[in-house]
Amino acid sequence: MRVALLSREYPPDVYGGAGVHVEYLARELAKLLDLRVHCFGEPRPAGPPGSPEVIAHPTWDALEGGGRHLAALRTVAPVADYVAVNVSSPNTEGLAELEEPGRLAALVRSLSEVEPRRPLVVKLSADLAEDRLTAVADALSDSPAAGLVLSNTSRGRAGLRGPLPPGADQGGLSGRPLLEGMLTAIGTVRSRTKDRFTLMASGGIFSGADAQRALGAGADLVQLWTGLVYAGPGLIGEVVEAVTSASI
Ligand SMILES: Cc1cc2nc3c(=O)[nH]c(=O)nc-3n(C[C@H](O)[C@H](O)[C@H](O)COP(=O)(O)O)c2cc1C
Repeated sequence: MRVALLSREYPPDVYGGAGVHVEYLARELAKLLDLRVHCFGEPRPAGPPGSPEVIAHPTWDALEGGGRHLAALRTVAPVADYVAVNVSSPNTEGLAELEEPGRLAALVRSLSEVEPRRPLVVKLSADLAEDRLTAVADALSDSPAAGLVLSNTSRGRAGLRGPLPPGADQGGLSGRPLLEGMLTAIGTVRSRTKDRFTLMASGGIFSGADAQRALGAGADLVQLWTGLVYAGPGLIGEVVEAVTSASI
C-alpha cells in the first residue's frame, strides 16, 4: 500500500515561498474570516454555532532576507489565527541553518516585534536529533513562540520499501514512515517544556487512532497532510470523532 510521498523542488513564491502569492492567499483567507477558529485563547468571533472552521496556516521560507518575510508576515497577519514559521523544508537550500537554537529564537523575536498580535508557531524538522530538538525547544521557550509544529518532512528514507523510483533520494519524505518519530518528538518536547507551547502533531497521521496516539503523546492539535491525500476528506470526520471522544 502506498503511504508516503516525496515532495521536492517547488519554486520559490509557490506553496511556502514569500512573495506575490502571499497577497493572493491573504485575499482568499479574508473571504473566510467568518469561519476562523481561535485556538490560542483569543475570543471566538460571533457567528452561527457549528459553522465550519479553518485554521489559517500560511508558511514562508524565512531565508528570503529580512524585508520579504517581514512583509509577508504583515500581509497574512490580519487574516491568520496563527502564522507558522517554516525553517525546516528540506527543499530550500540552507534553510536548516535557521534551526540553530540561538538564531531561531532571534528570528522569532524579530518576527514577533513586527506582528505581536498573532501567535507564531515554529515548524521544525523531522530530522533533529533528540539533543538538538531539546536545545531548540529550550531556546524557543525564551522567545515569544506560542507553539511548535512537529514535524516537517524528512531527508531520511527509513521505512520505505524498494525498489524506489529514480530520483527518490531527493526531497522530503512525508506520510506513514514519519509517525513513530513524530510521536517521540512530541513526547520529548512535551516532557521537556511542560505547558509552555501549543504542540501540533504533523507526520504520518492516517486515522483517528493515529490522532489519538498523537494526543496521548502530548499534542494539543493534529494536522493532516499526506493522510488526507490517501484517505480522502472522510479522514477529517474520523479524526474529529476520535479526538472528541478521546477528550470526553
Ligand atoms: C507536497 C507537499 C508539500 C509540502 N509543502 C510544505 C510547505 O510549503 N511548507 C511546510 O512547512 N511544509 C510543507 N510540507 C510538509 C507538510 O506540511 C507536513 O509537515 C509533512 O508532510 C508531514 O506530515 P504528513 O506525513 O501528514 O504529510 C509539504 C508536504 C508535502 C507532501
